[in-house]
Amino acid sequence: MSAADRARQAFVEAFGTQPEGVWAAPGRVNVIGEHTDYNDGFVLPVALPHTTRAAVARRDDGLVALVSAQHPGDRVEVPVAELAPGRPGGWAGYPAGVVHELRDRVPGGVSVLVDGDVPSGAGLSSSAALECAVALALRDLAAPDLGPADLVDVARRAENDFVGAPTGILDQSASMLCTAGHALFLDTRDRSAEQVPFDLAAAGLELLVVDTGTTHDHATGGYGDRRRECEEAAARLGVPALRDVPDVAALAVLDDGTAEGAVLLRRARHIVTENARVLDVVRVLRGSDGPAAIGPVLTAGHASLRDDFQISTPELDTCVATALEAGAAGARMVGGGFGGSAIVLVDVRSTSGVARMIADRFAQAGFGAPRTFAVVPSPGARRLG
Ligand code: GLA
Repeated sequence: MSAADRARQAFVEAFGTQPEGVWAAPGRVNVIGEHTDYNDGFVLPVALPHTTRAAVARRDDGLVALVSAQHPGDRVEVPVAELAPGRPGGWAGYPAGVVHELRDRVPGGVSVLVDGDVPSGAGLSSSAALECAVALALRDLAAPDLGPADLVDVARRAENDFVGAPTGILDQSASMLCTAGHALFLDTRDRSAEQVPFDLAAAGLELLVVDTGTTHDHATGGYGDRRRECEEAAARLGVPALRDVPDVAALAVLDDGTAEGAVLLRRARHIVTENARVLDVVRVLRGSDGPAAIGPVLTAGHASLRDDFQISTPELDTCVATALEAGAAGARMVGGGFGGSAIVLVDVRSTSGVARMIADRFAQAGFGAPRTFAVVPSPGARRLG
C-alpha cells in the first residue's frame, strides 16, 4: 500500500469520512550554512526522501481535529477560535499553528491525520515537514492565492509564534522549495533561491546521514542563546546582521578584553566563515572539480560549529572524527546542534566500512547505536493524491 493510501485509510478510521486529499512534505539536511539563516545569510539544504503526510478534510463544526499515526490514542480537538500559542502543545502544536495562521480561510475547521517517517528530534526538520504538509493542504483546499514563499512564512510563523521555537527560515524553505536532484542555494535576506545540481552518485560518492539518537529541543536552551549572542555581536559591530560583516578581520573590535567579548567574537566568526563556506561549496558544485572537493569545507564547518559556535556533542564529534579516520572526504554535524545528526561525504565503495567503524566507536564509547542512511536529494512539499 502506498504512503498516500495508508494516510487515507488511517483518516477514514479516525474520522469516518474520506479526506479531500493527501499531501506530503520532506525533512531536510543542510549541506552547509548552519545558523546563518537568522543572520540574513546563506544556506544550502537538500530535501530527504523521508516525509510527513497529511490527510486533510474541511469540517463545518468549527473544530480542528488532529490525529497522528505516531501518537496513537492522542486525539486533539480544539475549536479554531480557541487556538492560541501553546494550546494545543506537543506534536499537535505544529499543525494547529498552521491552522491558526490560516484560521480565516478555514472557519469551519479541519480534520488532519498525520503520518510520517522523518526521524523526530534528529535535527532533520520533522517539525517543518509537518507544518509544510498541512500548509500546502490548506492552500490547495482554501487559500489558492498563496504562493510558495507565503507558505514558507505561514509554516515558519507556526513554529516561531505558536510553538515558540525561535528558529530561522531554513527548515520551512527546504521542505517547501527543494527539488529532486538539487540542493537549494538560498539567500535568507532577500529570499532569492537557486537550484544547484547535486549529483553525488555520478561522482561515485554518497552523503550519509548519521543520526546519533541524541535529541534536542529548540524551544528551550542553547539555540535561543546563540541567536541572542549573534544579535548582540551585530549590534556591537553596528551592522543590521552578521551577514553584513565583510571578513573575519572586521570582528577584532568585539574582543574588548571581557569574557563576553571573547564569546561574541567566536559566535560571529562562525557566522562570517560559514557564509563563506556556503559560497565555496556552491562554487565547487557549479564547477568542474567534482563534488568530492566540498569535503574539506564540510569538515571545516564542523570545526567551526564545535569550537566557535560551541554546539556540538561528544557523539557528533566522535562521528565526525571516526568518519574522517575511516577515509571519508568530509563530515560535519548538522542542524541546530546539541544533539541530532551528522553528515558524512564518502566514496560509495567505503560506505559500509565507514558506517561500521562509526557504529563500533559508538559502542566502545558507551553511546547508543547510531542510525545511518544515504541522502537522496528529493522533492519538496507536494500533493500525493
Ligand atoms: C534549526 C533551525 C533552523 C536553523 C538551523 C541551524 O534547524 O530550525 O532555522 O537555524 O537550526 O542552521
